[in-house]
Amino acid sequence: MIGKIYGTGIYAPSNIMDNHTLAQKVDTNDTWIRERTGIVRRHIIEDDTTVSMASKAAKEALETSQVRAEEVDFTLVSTISSNIILPCVACEVQKEIGAVNATCFDLNAACTGFLFAYNTAQAYIASKIFQTVLIIGAETLSGMVDWTDRNTCILFGDGAGAVVLKGEEGGLFSTVTHSSGKQGAALTCVPGGYIKMDGHAVFRFAVKEVSQCIQELLEKENLSSEDIDYFVLHQANRRIVESVAKRLETDLEKFPMNLQEYGNTSSASIPLLLNQMNRSGLLKKGNKIVMAGFGAGLSWGASLLEW
Ligand code: COA
Repeated sequence: MIGKIYGTGIYAPSNIMDNHTLAQKVDTNDTWIRERTGIVRRHIIEDDTTVSMASKAAKEALETSQVRAEEVDFTLVSTISSNIILPCVACEVQKEIGAVNATCFDLNAACTGFLFAYNTAQAYIASKIFQTVLIIGAETLSGMVDWTDRNTCILFGDGAGAVVLKGEEGGLFSTVTHSSGKQGAALTCVPGGYIKMDGHAVFRFAVKEVSQCIQELLEKENLSSEDIDYFVLHQANRRIVESVAKRLETDLEKFPMNLQEYGNTSSASIPLLLNQMNRSGLLKKGNKIVMAGFGAGLSWGASLLEW
């Protein structure tokens, strides 16, 4: 059995902070941010929380999947920015949406979180423990950045994305994942503190490891990048995506992006992008997609799926 994506849903706060507004808070400017990152604006919570955003994205994903909340037997939330420690976000979502039959827990793998959550769901589905799975990536990074630190605050935003997976015979799933704790100092945050980052180190790591990891996955499956319709990368920086495309000698058109709209939303970025591709009609049945995540840990990975 392999989990097939039945539907997607998102929630992004309506409050938008563009680069010009941000430049009033910290010493930066629109041109610099666009040129170095591709980011134009980000959505920032006002009344929402990680839990409320996760719940709204989950409801939309269930609706588009035509799956009832009671049918969900596993809810997995990837987040590093919960507004509560106990209970976990997944249990709060369960309560909110009425997924009374679901087993619920959270996962923390930063910006690789959605990818690892997707793989976890696939493992449970393959072993026939769960069959209908709701995966959510939800983040309020606006509460984790120092708004006076221009090295980090320009990059991040808030949002949530969800997908519903149902076990089916056939389909495609393969993955390659890695972690390297010894490089962890490059991207950190202590409780009550702010995200601290060695931007150059993280940039180099992302370009090198993500390209290699995708190559590893393609080789494992005896595929070339020509066989892949879309590469859905974690949305951190336009230049990272461009560099990965270049290393894979693949047309940038196969690398959709929406970081210009949301900034880096950590584990929400891949489902936000998948939803956009799905709703805009870009994705066609049978499309082969490689999703790739990377971030704090350091951790990274790539997974192959068929739409
Ligand atoms: N606005 C204006 N100027 C800025 C700036 C900002 N927000 N941040 C840095 N600068 C300045 C620097 O002071 C430096 O000036 P100098 O040349 O006079 O010393 C210059 O711009 C270049 O800084 P640098 O840090 O070399 O820029 P960069 O091209 O490496 O871009 C990042 C910085 C953070 C955008 C980039 O390193 C990056 O994206 N790294 C990966 C981060 C990431 O994706 N993290 C999450 C992974 S999940």
